[in-house]
Amino acid sequence: MGSSRPRHEHVAGELRGRIRDGRYAVGRSLPSEAALCTEFGVSRGPVRQALASLRTEGLVELSQGRPAVVRSRNVTQTLDTFTPFSQWARRTGRAAASRTLEVARRRASGPAAQALALTPDEFVVEVLRVRLLDDEPTMIERSTFVDDVGAHLFEFDTDSGSITDFLTGRGARFDSMEHVLDAVAADRVDADSLGIDRGAPLLRERRTSRDETGRPFEFADDRYRPDLVTFGIVNARTV
Ligand code: GLP
Repeated sequence: MGSSRPRHEHVAGELRGRIRDGRYAVGRSLPSEAALCTEFGVSRGPVRQALASLRTEGLVELSQGRPAVVRSRNVTQTLDTFTPFSQWARRTGRAAASRTLEVARRRASGPAAQALALTPDEFVVEVLRVRLLDDEPTMIERSTFVDDVGAHLFEFDTDSGSITDFLTGRGARFDSMEHVLDAVAADRVDADSLGIDRGAPLLRERRTSRDETGRPFEFADDRYRPDLVTFGIVNARTV
């Protein structure tokens, strides 16, 4: 175990890996807390903290006095707050990477033009990237930015990290968002990029981001592999 890494993170990382590779199958129990303490050479505290993280990620179910049960191999993206892909990967102990397929300035068209309230003579900047979690192509992201915001992206290596962090550093404010979720069949680009069959089902999230004045400045069409990702929403309270 690396001395700088907190014990609970090490335990969580190991258990996550075993759930992902199927060693701990969906519906089956994990070893008991006591067995995990012995195996990892740690006390109950770090084991409980690790299990609590896995529960928050939607991977296991916990009940008093019983071993945790594997609920899903998918990683859950919660939509109640905007979590940029890179941050989400970090939080769930995975490595994020990006493969940029295109960054282009072109005239506004289609659903993006509509969401951004642009006329066809106005320009947008489109970024098409494949996002990977632990080297696995997980999502294809097509983000369309209004011209004055998107122009900054020509100074950024879009394979290298977070567009959100970069644009925030350039003064963009992701102040509010609207998400629309549905299912789509993979087209040729989706299929080739994600290594799936053409026509296979994908979870789609379309998002419009607005700045503090309410101006829409980004429209994203993100398609996720449903065998890897689940969407979740956490409500702070009920009415
Ligand atoms: C999430 C959103 C995407 C957005 C991405 C930005 O995945 N669903 O629409 O493009 O975050 O991620 P990053 O800031 O890591 O580039």
